[in-house]
Amino acid sequence: MTLPMENRIIDSVTIEQRISDLIGQMTLAEKIGQTQQVNSSHGHPPHYLADGLRAGLIGSVLNLADLGTVNELQRLAVEESRLGIPLLVGRDVIHGFKTIMPIPLGQAASWNPEVVRLGAAVAGREAATTGINWTFAPMIDISRDPRWGRIAESLGEDPYLASTLGVAMIEGFQGQDLTEIGSIAACAKHFAGYGASESGRDYATTNIPENELRNVYLQPFKAAVDAGVMTLMTSFSDINGVPGTANEFLLRKVLREEWSFDGFVISDYDSVRQLSIHGLTANDRDSVFEAVTAGVDMEMASDTYAHHLGELTEQGRISIDTIDAMVTNILRAKFRLGLFENPYTNQDDLPPLANAAALETARTAALQSIVLLKNDHATLPLSAASTKSIAVIGPMADAPYEQMGTWVFDGDEELSQTPLVAIQDFVGDDVRVHYVRAMENSRSKNAESFDDAAAAAANSDAAILFLGEESILSGEAHSRADINLPGEQAELVRRVREAGKPVIAVIMAGRPLTLTNIIDQVDAIMYAWHPGTMGGPAITDLLFGVESPSGKLPVTFPSMVGQIPIYYNQKNTGKPPSDDQIVHIDDIAARAPQTSLGMSAFHLDAGYKPLFAFGHGLSYTDFDYQNIRMSAHEISIGDSVTVSAELTNVGAVAADEIVQMYVRDLVGNVTRPVRELKGFTRVRLEPGQQTTVNFELRTDDLAFYGRSMQLLTEPGEFHVWIGGSSETELRTEFRIMDSN
Ligand code: NOJ
Repeated sequence: MTLPMENRIIDSVTIEQRISDLIGQMTLAEKIGQTQQVNSSHGHPPHYLADGLRAGLIGSVLNLADLGTVNELQRLAVEESRLGIPLLVGRDVIHGFKTIMPIPLGQAASWNPEVVRLGAAVAGREAATTGINWTFAPMIDISRDPRWGRIAESLGEDPYLASTLGVAMIEGFQGQDLTEIGSIAACAKHFAGYGASESGRDYATTNIPENELRNVYLQPFKAAVDAGVMTLMTSFSDINGVPGTANEFLLRKVLREEWSFDGFVISDYDSVRQLSIHGLTANDRDSVFEAVTAGVDMEMASDTYAHHLGELTEQGRISIDTIDAMVTNILRAKFRLGLFENPYTNQDDLPPLANAAALETARTAALQSIVLLKNDHATLPLSAASTKSIAVIGPMADAPYEQMGTWVFDGDEELSQTPLVAIQDFVGDDVRVHYVRAMENSRSKNAESFDDAAAAAANSDAAILFLGEESILSGEAHSRADINLPGEQAELVRRVREAGKPVIAVIMAGRPLTLTNIIDQVDAIMYAWHPGTMGGPAITDLLFGVESPSGKLPVTFPSMVGQIPIYYNQKNTGKPPSDDQIVHIDDIAARAPQTSLGMSAFHLDAGYKPLFAFGHGLSYTDFDYQNIRMSAHEISIGDSVTVSAELTNVGAVAADEIVQMYVRDLVGNVTRPVRELKGFTRVRLEPGQQTTVNFELRTDDLAFYGRSMQLLTEPGEFHVWIGGSSETELRTEFRIMDSN
């Protein structure tokens, strides 16, 4: 139930009043206590938590997922401390709790905010059964580097897509009303720029010019703040010389002054203490000073606030007003969550874990997130009627834990439905399934059973290879420099290919992998990411054509690692490459004059195109786009226009299509990307069915930060495209008129 607006206004006045009453009664130690989050599993001495809670010295706990313990800790905080302030109970519930949704990057491939919202709502409600009232998600770091292990947790490379889906995730976790049972606070992270870590090495330095920061990396955070996210987490990384946890520019100027954020900011785990390791400060006391001055309200895990904030305040280096403002932000979240009224959790108030609806949500999410990258000779779907035998091969075919992906503290592998089991269930006794795991895990170098795999393929009508990366190969601190299929998987593909049967690769991975070395060896590639609990049935439905694939890439797939960073919304450069200009290294004549090489922005050995473009994804049907139109070709600042195109399903099966709209601003105060996503929608069409897809484009949607970091909407020429990927050619133009 949502409160009418007048009640909400009264409510927020009441909340501010209650906060100020409470702060008026708090000692300095109790105030500092609110700013401290304690890791419950950190080997603290017995009674540490209980004593701290009774004394009002702990504001939040981290890493608990046991209802009995959580309710007992709440009781100590609420009933045995002087002021009875309830606890925030935080945990990483990233893409599911017991029921695991696809990894966030996979969810982003669904381009479906509703699927993302429902997935987060399931995750939040399941987590709430253990008293968790705060999750550290969504992770909305723009990620243009597939080497970075945490790309798995991200919503991809595009600011518009990540903003839209990040907001959907926040809405899913926080619900319509935060006080509702099952709603939990969200945390937009990591503020900011973490995804730009040099060479994708986790925690490494980032250097992002302010213009790029504002036009790209900050966009999803602004959207999250506008959507009412309760909390933000700082980034571990150093950004332009100042680590996120001490970055006053980001935390005060941008977040508080420009965006008017009224939630609270938490550090990342131990990142206040790490300021001295970065070399920004000489000791913990100075780290506390820097973090607090920058605007970090709560410290995660390390206890430098508890040790030094009192002294800094007494010395006058940090004012009591600053402390009060930090505590106000934290208490506001506790009031908004309704924790003062309702600190305890009763499991019976919440739906059972992994119930049928939750599993169905996970299945739909997996189904819509899987991307068909390649499908030569319509190899897929397999016909259940004419296929009499299939070889199911590979380390990911029956790997219940691995298919859940990274960040699954509470995920239950027993719930995972694997492709092998789902295929066997689907085909029943009519089709012989020859299963050969072939490799112990994705990194295995032992090729002993490759003969068995090749024989299984030879004795079958088709071979389905389940390849990829185990979950441990992506996620935090799990970056890779080589993003080919690990171990001997490429050799396995080659051996299976020799059997001469159609070969289908289903790839489960936490990142885009470079597939150049297998792409010509397989007839079809289905990219399933780490699809979560219901990956098996979703993959099976797609393999056998129960549904058509509909996922589209939320991130560019490089053909080789040296192309990174490669992303669709790049700048044009002064020497843009084109097909007729590029020369391959093997074709360069001896002593060729330099100018014969085309002199443009490409690699001699990789050209300039990715292996698969942002937005790419095939279907079992064909979609035809025609007649792109605009309601007006000349508009004034402040206007909006409708851009439309006709879409027809010209194939033989019903399918969803993700229709994408891109814009290019031809001339700008700063150079503008060659294309920028500005709208998308998922449409379902029956065979032969036609529809007109309309997008509303406001001139505000075209605003960008210029040279002086002001948001500008400039008059001039624009191109606009509609189509099924970022490479669409269906284009029209319009002009924003000069008001003078
Ligand atoms: C460190 C990670 O960077 C962050 O994303 C996570 O939420 C915290 N640890 C808590 O586990």
